[in-house]
Order: sequence, then structure tokens, then C-alpha cells
Amino acid sequence: MEKLIVANWKMNPEDVSKAREIAFFSDQGGVILCPPVIFLNEVKKEIKKATIGAQDVFWERKGSFTGETSALMLKNIGCKYVIIGHSERRRNLKEDNSIIEKKMKALIEEGITPILCIGETREERDKKEAEKIVAEQLSIIPKSTEVIIAYEPVWAIGSGDSCDWELAKEMRSFISDSFKGRFSKILYGGSVNSENCSDYLEKSLFDGLLVGSASLDHQEFKKIIEKALN
Ligand code: 13P
Repeated sequence: MEKLIVANWKMNPEDVSKAREIAFFSDQGGVILCPPVIFLNEVKKEIKKATIGAQDVFWERKGSFTGETSALMLKNIGCKYVIIGHSERRRNLKEDNSIIEKKMKALIEEGITPILCIGETREERDKKEAEKIVAEQLSIIPKSTEVIIAYEPVWAIGSGDSCDWELAKEMRSFISDSFKGRFSKILYGGSVNSENCSDYLEKSLFDGLLVGSASLDHQEFKKIIEKALN
């Protein structure tokens, strides 16, 4: 199966020229670049082989929803994929599974592939609730719909404290055994870098990676792409 590398730039970089530069150096087949929406158009112009995606969406199609971006708008600008349910939004904006479910439906209606982020916090893992939490987060995927799943243990995000590949592999097996037929790929995310990326793909058997901070450093990201896609 072809591997997929998704770059989640989060709220970076601070201006369009830097966004163009990162996009230029990240332009490879199998790569999905998810910049802030404000840079989508310029990033799209900069790339030939990569694809653009977004970091979030609103669930309504159009109307009086100040500050929001619809799935239709994202489709019209060329997004084939949209990240939903990222733990930073679950935490900072109190997005729960019912909100994320509405966003997923809106994307599916427009023919956009959702990249559904799931993952447990450190406390949930310590309480041995990781599988229960992940199962709840996955239960919103409609039957007979295939989405891309990104398993991102919350404690491994932006911390440099990457998840042990064996632990990640256990969760990957749990997801694929319990939710057969509801995903096309399972990605791993959380402090991915050029040193650990091969472990997640070759040992934990993930189908790709969701990369945060390392995707902004084009030399580091190039190394990840080379290891993951060749
Ligand atoms: P980091 O790679 O910076 O840990 O971020 C991971 C992430 O949240 C990607 O969505």
C-alpha cells in the first residue's frame, strides 16, 4: 500500500513567503500539505506533485457563521483531505465527538476525505482507558465509509516524547481489528522525526505519518519523505 505523509503546519508560518518556501521544498507525490487556510491558494500554486489539505472545517454548507470555512469552500480551492478532531482543537476549543461527527459528515458530502485524529491523554493511558477512548472517538465513523485515521497519542504531540513503536503497534492492531472496513489508512502522529519515522512505518506497520513541527523544517521533512516514500 502506498504510504502517505501528511504535514500539519498548525498555526505556522507567520507569512506567505515562508509558506511558499516550505511548500516548494515539500513538493513530493504522496505528500499532503495542510497549511493554515489563509495560505492554501499560494501553497497550491507552489506545488506540482503534492496535494493540499486543510486543518479543520465547519459543518454547515454556507451562511452566517462568522470566521468559519465550509467543506464546499475547501473543495472549491482544491482540498482533497481535511484533518478533523485534532487533539489541540479537542482541548483548546472543546470540540467533542458529536461536533467532529458533524464535520465528518460535511466533508463526506463534498467528497473530501476526512483525516480523523484520535488518541488518548497520558492520564487516560495510565488509567488503562486508552482503547476505550480511541473506540469512542472511532465510533462516529459511519458504517461503509472509509476515512483516514491518524492515531496521535496526545502526550506524544509536540513533546519530543515520541511513543514507543511497540505501544503504537498495539494500538494500530486494536484499531484495525475493531474497525475493519471503516478506514483506508491508519497514520501515526506525535513527535515524528527523521530518526523515528521508519520505525512507525516498518515495525509498527502504519500506512503513513502525520507530521507536525518536523514538516516546517524542510531539511528534516525531506529526510522523512525520503525514508518513508522510497
Ligand atoms: P508534532 O509532530 O509537532 O509532535 O505534532 C504532531 C501533530 O499534532 C500532527 O498533527
